[in-house]
Amino acid sequence: MIGDKKVLFSGMQATGNLTLGNYLGALKNWVSLTDEYECFYCVVDEHSITVRQDPATLRKRARALLILYIAAGIDPEKACLYYQSHVSAHAELAWILDCYTYMGEMNRMTQFKDKSAKHADNINVGLFAYPVLMAADILLYQADVVPVGIDQLQHLEITRDIAERFNNIYGQTFTIPEAYIGKVGAKIMSLQDPAKKMSKSDENPNGSIYLMDDRDTIIRKFRRAVTDSEACIAYRDEQPGIKNLLDIYSACAGKTPEEAVQEFSGRGYGELKAAVGEIVADTLDPLQKRCAELSADKAYIDSIIKNNAEKAEWYANKTLRKVQKKIGFPERIR
Ligand code: TRP
Repeated sequence: MIGDKKVLFSGMQATGNLTLGNYLGALKNWVSLTDEYECFYCVVDEHSITVRQDPATLRKRARALLILYIAAGIDPEKACLYYQSHVSAHAELAWILDCYTYMGEMNRMTQFKDKSAKHADNINVGLFAYPVLMAADILLYQADVVPVGIDQLQHLEITRDIAERFNNIYGQTFTIPEAYIGKVGAKIMSLQDPAKKMSKSDENPNGSIYLMDDRDTIIRKFRRAVTDSEACIAYRDEQPGIKNLLDIYSACAGKTPEEAVQEFSGRGYGELKAAVGEIVADTLDPLQKRCAELSADKAYIDSIIKNNAEKAEWYANKTLRKVQKKIGFPERIR
């Protein structure tokens, strides 16, 4: 708890181009959580280097992501928006927690298996230890809740295990975090393969709408979206392509999928695709403009980066010092 509010932690990587899936599935909901929770939203640049990055691109994207958080409507005075690499406690706690995590439990992490298959030429120790750094992120802020996608649930589970193990040995130290389940964001699927999640690492750019795509590109990608031959607009699992289009439409329009079905009943797929394209473009257009405006205001963004890193550091160091003391590191004189 901070004051009378529960603490919420989440993070995103600045690698790849963020997609409509990241926005409708996560970022959009992050905004609404800032009233109820004390939120820490991190740009997890340290996680990004588990895969080789071009330095200039990483730096540029990390800044663009932080700006996107603000452009999406997160008030940086209210929620703490910062870079993981600016708060050294993350890496320090991760090392300590590494020593309380077993190879056996890490060997079960499915994301490591997937990622090492994908990056067979660079299966580094950081990639293996990735979930422990994520545990450090969460535990440093004594987070009560963590909104994550299902692909990250296993990492949250190991975070809880590590925290409980530590608490059992040293006494109450960490809050045990829960996955945030509440109003969950829409799960947006690929436009080219509606069985697959829309992903920033998809090789086929037509499957994803990138947040910086222009209107023509957006409309064109929706026109090409894979549907089916049922010729009937219904919201059901047997028609995953149409279901996805209806999910996207309703998330952008602030309606339920059922309302969207009604709106389009008796109309053709072409009309639905065109309408979804328009509403997505209308949704992303103000976001893109706001990103451009904020990017131009270097002094303002720099001040947010500085102030929020200081705020994050204060909370993070409080936990780190407690941990260091408990495990027997020498007392700090300064
Ligand atoms: N691993 C998460 C992802 O790729 C990002 C992340 C890093 C994160 N640290 C976190 C998410 C802590 C929630 C909490 O999506």
